[in-house]
Amino acid sequence: MKNFRGYKQSKLPKSDETISQTEPSSPGGEYLRRYWHPVALSSEVSTTPLQIRILGEDLVIFKTTESKIGLVHRNCPHRRASLVYGKCEKKGIRCCYHGWLFAPDGEILETPGEDPDSKQAAKLRETFKLGAYPIIEFNGLIFAYLGPPENIPEFPHYDTFDIPEVTRRPYRIKYNCNWIQVLDAIMDPVHTSFLHGQSSGIQFSKGFAEVGELEFFERGVQYLGCNTRRVDDFVWVRVNELILPNFTQAGSAFAADGTKTRYFGRSSFTRWVVPVDNDHCVALAWGNFGERADPIEYNTKEGCERIEAGEIMDRTWKEKQNRPGDAEAVEGMGSISAHKGEHLMPTDYGVMIYRRRIRKLIKDLKEGKEPPQPQPEKGNIIKTNGQDTVLKVPKRNIDDRSFIKSIGSAVMKLQFDAEKMPLKKRDDHIINKLSSMEKSGDF
Ligand code: FES
Ligand SMILES: [Fe+2]
Repeated sequence: MKNFRGYKQSKLPKSDETISQTEPSSPGGEYLRRYWHPVALSSEVSTTPLQIRILGEDLVIFKTTESKIGLVHRNCPHRRASLVYGKCEKKGIRCCYHGWLFAPDGEILETPGEDPDSKQAAKLRETFKLGAYPIIEFNGLIFAYLGPPENIPEFPHYDTFDIPEVTRRPYRIKYNCNWIQVLDAIMDPVHTSFLHGQSSGIQFSKGFAEVGELEFFERGVQYLGCNTRRVDDFVWVRVNELILPNFTQAGSAFAADGTKTRYFGRSSFTRWVVPVDNDHCVALAWGNFGERADPIEYNTKEGCERIEAGEIMDRTWKEKQNRPGDAEAVEGMGSISAHKGEHLMPTDYGVMIYRRRIRKLIKDLKEGKEPPQPQPEKGNIIKTNGQDTVLKVPKRNIDDRSFIKSIGSAVMKLQFDAEKMPLKKRDDHIINKLSSMEKSGDF
C-alpha cells in the first residue's frame, strides 16, 4: 500500500540541536553570546527589579535611584535569594534576605550582617562578584552583551537608526517556541502570500496574496529575500532582510500594497529575535512609522502586533484557529521544530542558506574562530536593504514572470551599487534612479 503511512512515519524526527540550543555553554549559546542583543524595553526597567530570562539564563534588570541600569544574575551569591525581591538604592540593589548590596557591575559593596572587621567578608567583597553584564540603552531598548568581556564588540549602528522623520516605537512580543522558527519567517517571503494573503483572509493588503518571483542574496552576514510581484499595472519589489545572527527588517506592512508608486520605502520594523531559552524567544524591536515606513495610525500596541505577526496577540482559540498569524504558524511547529522531518523546497532556499551559515559559524567558534560582526569596521554604519518599491510598469509583449524578476534584480543592483554612499545621499540617489527607471521603462 502506497498511502496510509501513519505507522511507518510515527517516529518524531529530530530537531537540529546545533542551531536550536541556546543555553549557557551550548555551542549555539556561545555563538549568540558574541553579539549585542536587546533584552528589555526601557519602559519596563525601573527601581522595581524585573526578572527576565535570556539565552537560558535567569537575570534581574534594575535601575538604581541614581538611574544606573544593572543586569545581573538573579540569585544572590550569599545564599541564593532572588534579587527580584531586592531594593534599589543609590549605589545598587540590596538583597532582601541579609541585606548585601550589589553595584550594577556586580561588585559586592556591603555585607552588613557580618562583623565590620570580618576578614573573610572583606576578602569575599574584594575577590568575588555577582554575575553582571554590560548594557547600552538606546532609543527605548536596553541592549546587553552576554559574552566574554575580552571580546566585547562595538555596538552595531544600522543606517535605519538615522532615517529622518521616522517615529520609532519600542515593542516586545513573546513567542512560545525556539528562536529559529521565528527567524525563518523573515527568509521565507512566500509565506506572506499564503498565511497573510489567503489562509487568514487579507491581513495586510490584497497585493500580498500575489505569489512573486524570488531572488535570494547572501552578502557576508547579510541575507536578503527579494520578492517581486505583479499587481495589475504595477510591479512591487519587496525585500526581507536578516543580518546574522538575529537582526531583521522587511518592507512595510500597511504602507505599500502594490497599487501605487513607492520608491525605496523602508521597513515597518527594526527587530531582533532573541532566545529566552530553547523553547521560547522574544521579538524586541521598534515599529517604524512615517512617510517612509508604516502609517502613523498603526503606532499603537495593537498596530505593532499586527505588523509583527499579522494579528493581535491576545485572541481566543477560535480566533486564532480561524485566522492564524505568524505566532500560530511558528508555535504550531512545536516548541522546537523537528527539522529533520522538513521537506525543504526551492522556495525555502533563503531558510536553507542562513541556517547552514549559522551552523558553520557555531562550528568555527567551537574550533576557536570568532564569528564575524555585522559592523566589522569601527564607526562604519551598516547599510541595510529591507524595503518596498512599487513601480508602474504595465505588462509588455514578453514573458511577464521573467520581466518582473529582471526588475527586481535591477532594483537590488541599484541598492547595492549605492552602498558606499552616506545615508542621505544613498537614499536620494536610489529614489531618483527608481523614478527615472519608471519613467523611461529602462531596466
Ligand atoms: S541571600 Fe542575599 S544577602 Fe543573604
Ligand atoms: Fe509573517
